[in-house]
Amino acid sequence: MTYIHGFSDEEQDRLLSQNDVLAKYIYQNLDFSNCNHIVEIGCGVGAQMISLLHKYSQLSVTGIEQSPKQIQRAHIHLSHFPQFDGRYAILEDDAVRIKPAFKQPVDGAFMIWVLEHVPNPEALLLNTHRWMPADSQLWITEVFHPSFRTWPESQKIMDYWQDTLDYQYSLKGDPAIGIRLANLLHETGFTEIQTIPHLFFLDRTRPDERRNMFIYWLDLMRSALHETLDGGFTTMERWQIAESQMRRLIENPDAVFYYSFIQATCKRPR
Ligand SMILES: C[S@@+](CC[C@H](N)C(=O)[O-])C[C@H]1O[C@@H](n2cnc3c(N)ncnc32)[C@H](O)[C@@H]1O
Repeated sequence: MTYIHGFSDEEQDRLLSQNDVLAKYIYQNLDFSNCNHIVEIGCGVGAQMISLLHKYSQLSVTGIEQSPKQIQRAHIHLSHFPQFDGRYAILEDDAVRIKPAFKQPVDGAFMIWVLEHVPNPEALLLNTHRWMPADSQLWITEVFHPSFRTWPESQKIMDYWQDTLDYQYSLKGDPAIGIRLANLLHETGFTEIQTIPHLFFLDRTRPDERRNMFIYWLDLMRSALHETLDGGFTTMERWQIAESQMRRLIENPDAVFYYSFIQATCKRPR
């Protein structure tokens, strides 16, 4: 898989620090208190596993991840939490093809920021549907990147942002996948589908949160810079102008940050 962010140490650190910023929003509407064992598809470097294992002391998590480099980093990171020993495992495999065997009964599957990178999300969902137990639950959180807006508007920021989206489309990813999650789940046989947008609409009434999100977003924009440059989808000049305009927004007391990611939940029917 060509992955827009790559697998560098810097990117792996970003996945961990990204979750420090986003976890409180991601988990606001998720509840795993009735689960004993869930499967995280595309667990990366273990950022979500750590949040889940901290938050739910009864929970065990099995990750599925296709990149050995991510798994290696996940194990290093998880080893810093000896209290989690015995509560997690990671299977190295492709979630599109895996036929997993689990030691414990599975209550559900969980996936976050994964489908956006998968060339055939239907195939991944169909395979997941195959191995999930009847009546178990699936939770998905996904990007809807075209929803990003700022006030004051900056065409230069939007131009660079569109360059990174075009690059992701060229890799057969879909940075707008969140908006069609319910359709995908319906097509692939899941039922009881519910979707909600998580809206960030941050203005001068919440200056600290707005600042954190602008800084996080600048980091996200930078994270795909080298790959987008190498792919010929942007130029250093376009990035530098966008970066300096983002920095101006961070200091502007009237600036507005607007973005929405999408969360879906559904059942694997009998
Ligand atoms: C953006 S990262 C997200 C990681 C983690 N869910 C998180 O929130 O930090 C996406 C991860 O999905 C993994 N991935 C993508 N396609 C996959 C597939 N078909 N099977 C298994 N893992 C996959 C990638 O290797 C990458 O580690």
